[in-house]
Parts: sequence; C-alpha cells; structure tokens
Amino acid sequence: MKTLQRGLSLALLFVIQTTFGATDIVTTIQMIRDGETMVSSDGAFELGFFGTGKSTNRYVGLWYRNIKVRRVVWVANREAPLTGPGGVLKVVEPGFLVLLNDTTGTAVWSSKKSRTVQNPIAQLLDSGNLVVRDANDDRPENFLWQSFDHPTDTRLPGMKLGRNYVTGIETYLTSWKSDDDPSPGDFITQLDPTGYPQVLLKKDTKIQFRLGPWNGFGFSGGPEERKDATYMLRLVMTEKEVYLLEESISTSVITVAVVNQSGYVQRWTWVSATQSWVMYANLPADSCDQYKLCGAYATCTTASPFCRCLDRFVPKDPEGWTRSDRSNGCIRRSNLSCQGDIFLKYSGIQLPDSRNSRYVKISTLEDCKAECLKDCSCMAYTQLDRSKGTGCLFWFEDLSDMKDRPKQGDDIYIRMSFSEEAETVANSKGRKTDITVATSLTSVVIIILISLSLFLYIRKRLNYQNLRRKGQHLGSSEKNSELPLFGLSVILRATDHFSIDNKLGEGGFGPVYKGILEHGQEIAVKRLSKDSMQGLDEFKNEIIFISKLRHRNLVRLLGGCIQGDENMLIYEYMPNKSLDMILFDQTKNMLLDWQKRFNIINGIARGLLYLHQDSQLQIIHRDLKTSNILLDSDMNPKISDFGMARCFQGTETEAKTRRVVGTYGYMPPEYAIDGLFSTKSDVFSFGVIVLEIVSGMRNRGFSHNADNLNLLGHAWTLYKEGRSLELVDPGLAEPYYFSEMRRTIHVGLLCAQKKPEDRPSMSTAVFMLINEGVLPEAKQPGFFTEREVTVTQRPSSTNAANATNEITITMLEGR
Ligand SMILES: *[C@@H]1O[C@H](CO)[C@@H](O)[C@H](O)[C@H]1NC(C)=O
Repeated sequence: MKTLQRGLSLALLFVIQTTFGATDIVTTIQMIRDGETMVSSDGAFELGFFGTGKSTNRYVGLWYRNIKVRRVVWVANREAPLTGPGGVLKVVEPGFLVLLNDTTGTAVWSSKKSRTVQNPIAQLLDSGNLVVRDANDDRPENFLWQSFDHPTDTRLPGMKLGRNYVTGIETYLTSWKSDDDPSPGDFITQLDPTGYPQVLLKKDTKIQFRLGPWNGFGFSGGPEERKDATYMLRLVMTEKEVYLLEESISTSVITVAVVNQSGYVQRWTWVSATQSWVMYANLPADSCDQYKLCGAYATCTTASPFCRCLDRFVPKDPEGWTRSDRSNGCIRRSNLSCQGDIFLKYSGIQLPDSRNSRYVKISTLEDCKAECLKDCSCMAYTQLDRSKGTGCLFWFEDLSDMKDRPKQGDDIYIRMSFSEEAETVANSKGRKTDITVATSLTSVVIIILISLSLFLYIRKRLNYQNLRRKGQHLGSSEKNSELPLFGLSVILRATDHFSIDNKLGEGGFGPVYKGILEHGQEIAVKRLSKDSMQGLDEFKNEIIFISKLRHRNLVRLLGGCIQGDENMLIYEYMPNKSLDMILFDQTKNMLLDWQKRFNIINGIARGLLYLHQDSQLQIIHRDLKTSNILLDSDMNPKISDFGMARCFQGTETEAKTRRVVGTYGYMPPEYAIDGLFSTKSDVFSFGVIVLEIVSGMRNRGFSHNADNLNLLGHAWTLYKEGRSLELVDPGLAEPYYFSEMRRTIHVGLLCAQKKPEDRPSMSTAVFMLINEGVLPEAKQPGFFTEREVTVTQRPSSTNAANATNEITITMLEGR
C-alpha cells in the first residue's frame, strides 16, 4: 500500500514538473544533467552546472536566475570538480543528494545524511536554500541536509551564521581561492561566540579583523547602517544555538554578504537601474580595523597619530611608543588597589575584544558596576542594549583592540584607582579619613603656594601698570614673567596686521583675530581696546585666572603681548568658533548630533567642576553662556572669557557685589536682583546652557504660543507634564538616546532651580549626567516667564546701586 502511495505521489510530482517546465524538486526517479537546471518555485534562484575561466572543470552551483551578471552564491562540489561535462545530480535512498560522474558512475560529491527517510527528495527553496527532506515533511527542523548549513563565500538573507550546539554544525563563510577556483581560499568569516559574540575575519587561524561585539542593536563600532538598508541583522542566542541572521525587509532588493579572496567582507547589492552589482560596504574599512594594531588600553583613531593611550593611561614602553611601536599598548598611570577602585566612563569606543568577556543578565548600570566592583580582576563593564538593559558585559583581562568610533561606538566603564576620581567626581562619599586629611594638607600647601605666586604675579603686573602710566617701556624683568611673551612684530605678521579678514569677533574686552605663527600654529589673538578702563580690568582678571588654570575643557592661554599701547592675549585657536554660532544656526546645528551635544554638556560640566573645586582656587566664572563656550576641531567644548571671574578664598561661599555683571537669560535671580553670587550662580547658567543645547533654542527671545514662557518655563512645563522629550531639537529624535535626553533635561532643570540651595553642586551635576539613577524632583526654575525678566530688568527703586545694575546689564546685553 505504502509503495503504491509513494509511486503515485512521485508520479504526480513528475507530472506537475513536466507541465510547468523547470523544476524545484528532484526525486529519486529524476536527475539533473549538465545543461539542465533546477529553479526555485518563485523563479528567483537557479541551480545548475557551471565552469570557470579556461578550465574544463565543472561545478554545481547556485545563482540568481533573473540577474544578467551571474554571481554564483553557492557551490556544491567546490573541492571536487568534475573534470568534464558528464555530470548528473540525483537523489538516492535513503536520503542523499549525490553528484556523479556519469561515465564512470563514481560520486564526486554528496550531501551528508543525518537520518533515513522513506521518500527523500531535494528541493530548491525560494530563499536559495537547497534542502534534502522527506517528501511528506517540509518542516525545517526535519530537513536531512541543507545548503544553508554549508555556505561557501556568500551569505544569503535568511541564512544563519553561527553555531548550533545540538547538531554541532558551525556555519561560516570561506573565500574562493581565486576567481576561477571556488575551492576554499585563505579567509574565513565566522561568528565567534567565545565570551560574547563578535564576527571575526581570519586568515587561516590568525585574526585579521574583528567586528563587534554585538551591543544589542548592532556591532559595536561597526559601519553605519544605511538609512535605506533593506535588511536587518539580528543576533539570536539560545541554549541550543547562537547565530546571526540577516532578514530582508524588502524582498525586491537583492543583497548578499561575501568574503572575497583578498580578505574583505563586503556587501553587494544588485542595482537594476544600472544593471550592475554595487558594493555597499567593505571591511576592514581603514587601518584602525587591523586587529590589535594599538595594543592594550589604547584606541585607534583614523586621524594620525593612529594609536592613542586612553585618557589617564600612559604608554607601557614609552621609547617604543615614540618609535611608533605601539604593540605594547598602555597602562594605567595610577595602579589599581582593588579596594576603593572606581570606574570611569569612556564613550564613543568600539568595545574591546570580547573573547575574554562574560555576559551576565543584569538590568541596571548600577548593578553592572556593583558586580564588577566585587571582583578585583574585573577590568571593565558595559551595558548591552542600553535602552532595554538586557545585561552587562564584563572584561577580565587587559582591554585590547579598541577604536575611536565617535558615532557608532559605545560606552565602557573602566576600572581605575580612586586617585583618578578627583578630576571627575570630587568629594564623593566613602573615602578613608586619613586620606582626606592627607589630601587636605596637600591642598593647603598648594593653595598657599599658588596664592603666594599669584600675589607676586599681581604685584609685578601692578608695577608694570605704574611703569606704563609713566610712559616707560617694558623692563627686562617682565620677560621673565610666567606668561610667555610674544613680540608685537610676531603678532602683526601672524594676523596680517590685524586684517579685517582675520577678525573672528568681539570678545569681552575687545576684538579677537585669527593668526598663524611662522611654524604654522593657529592662534586666536584677543586685543584690548585702547581707552577701555573696564576692559583693562577684565584683561588683568583674565591673565590672573587663566594663566593658572589648565584643563581640557578650558581654553588655553598660550601667552601675551604687551608692547607700546598694545595689550593682547594669545590663545589656542578653536576652529569651530563658539557654540552659539553653530547651535543657533539652522543649517550648522545639524553638525551637532545628540552624542556631540551630550559630550559638549559633559565637557562644560567638567570644566566648571574644575573651576569650582579642583583648581584649588575656587573660581566663579560669572558669565557663562553659549558664546563663551568654544569648540575645538572635534567639537570638544572649552570654556573661555574669564574677564568677570571671581576667586573665592577660605570659607567664603557667597559674596555680594554692587556691580552686577553677566548676561541676561543666564543670570540666576539672586544675582540679578540682589547681587549675590556663589558657585551656584554658575550652576544656574549651566542649567540654562544645557536646555539650550538640548533644544537648539535660546532662552532669551524664546517664544512658544502666547504663554509668555521663556525656554526655562517651557522646559519646566513639559517636564511637569511628563513630555520632556518634546523639548529636544527635532533633528535629534533617536529613540536610542531617549533616556539619556530625558535625564539631561532633568539635570538642566535641577541646575536652573530658583533657589540656589536647591541646585546641585557641579560635582553632583557631573555625576547625575553620566550615571543612571533616580533624580530628585525639579522645582520651579528661576525666571521662568519673560515678564519676570522684564520686571527685574527695570528696577523701580532709584538708589545708586540699582542704577548701576541697569547700566551694566544694558551694556552687556548686546554682546
Ligand atoms: C577584494 O576586495 C578588495 C576591496 O574592495 C579589492 O581591493 C580586491 O581587489 C578584491 N579582491 C579580489 C581578488 O577581487
């Protein structure tokens, strides 16, 4: 009975096939001869015999049937060619697909059989997968064999690249030997699940290039996905298998991934308009992609120098490093002590080689940290799939093969000695008392030394002012001043005699010019306007402060030029000018994506923290605003203009001035109204800047409907209604960053609260920005309607102090 049934169904299949021409199924009573083909039922794929180049070798391969430029995407007998045309492909019992040399009757290739079935057939599926199965069972898990488990150099959509722990099958790509020879070449591409999955390109067994690890969305630091991509990559991890799957979004687009004979992983897409295959991605893409080029704890940047130690790391072999031998990598500048170690965040990094990493399903960043802290050999952690928080990845050895990928990189938190903490989050809890005592003793000594040298310096300057009044020239002692002095002729040459073309803008006390020194260094020259008394004060102030300060988020003073009537300060040049010029410009603001903006916010915060705490002078800037934030070539922020800065000493925490200086829109109420200032005034200005950066709008001059709210008021209203994200500049709306955006807005509002005592210190603000955790509820910000500002701007009282307020403010507003 069974036999009859079987005979009938086979006959039926045969009838169907002969009626419709090409066949997608081969049974035990059929065969495919050289010259005949199998075609998938939708007509997309064709399987048949082909030859290469001049050789008479014949192979069985698979290609897209309707594409004129033939691309063989799979080869059955890549290692065992038929030497001539007499080949046949057939299915034999109990379940093999075999390729026979018809004249000799010998098999040159066969599919492996996993089990015995009654009625084996081979079928070419619409996905391009050639399968051997039982005629009555088309469930994929019951296939006897499938070509998708044995790819050659091409990955088709729907193919799993990875490992199946149950069957033991590993699926990977191997390049062809040459254009004419499909036999296995030197390069393989595989998904390596060791530690945490990443894609490796190997030459024999040596790793050439690494993509990943998988960060929950894509490969860390991998090439940017095209907006018009027609496929989606997915990483699947179960107890039984780990694989990477490419799913087509649009079936009308034909796209494949290939490893070529010279070791490149490429994506090729068929473009029907031009009737050609176009390469859309090619990896390795740049020299940084060379595996472990830079050694441990270094990152590779495509701009030279290629290898850079991470911040707070130094070359392990400094001599070798200067000889451009970077293989030894870098080490921490302060040793770890295990107890009390901290973690510092590094962003925009392609995560290190994950073969020594361990994945743990933990949902919050705080828990990742706590877990890593417990184990002294845990060197770093990162949170995968940040928005969903699906887990943490921990590294237990030196971190290697990292790259700077500002856009596609990830955050990694690296273990550091607690002594590195000072610059990031000072005065955080949990320090040992004796250390605190030691530190504060040192601080006292340093403060005394600095005050002493400041005193001497100011005295020298005052002497100089006296000399100047008497019309005398610069004494030789002046040349020994700590501030390097430039000759006037040098500056004139550099700025082309202050040519109008070189003018960059107006600074606090006069025009600013661009200049180029003889050896090519670019500088910015701030020239004190003659006969500006206030300008002279600010000029002095600036010298006093900035020559003492050094931080990567403060603009650097290179020197001064004081000759004849000229008083000038020379700074490093900032190619991207000031933040307001980019942020509030409709077209330029596209240069600032969310990551850049977040980086700018953090940079300003760190610069301020340094001024407030770490510089040991406790400086209040008093005129923070977007036009005083300069941007370097990488869009790193640098705080500038210390003309109005004030220094606090000893226990003083708040001061009162009768002369209110600053800029409306950035001034807190207690200062604008009562002239009270403290570090918390800067915190307020910082809060305003944060909201301006997030929204791309100015606090002053902001208008929204007719509700009379300024940006602060508007932000607060949205926040109260749980709609904070509506504040975000529409161009930035990337769901991936929503939680970071929400937190940033929240921190901005906390900083801009009405009462100074409610505002966080800068160290707390820095901490809140980079750490996830519950933030306190923000209270009403100071000056949240335009009307409020107007009222305080025109004081009704007629006393002298208030009159001064008005004049100063009016004068400064225009800047
Ligand atoms: C492989 O791809 C690279 C990069 O596009 C190319 O330079 C090289 O010639 C290709 N190799 C072969 C053998 O086609």
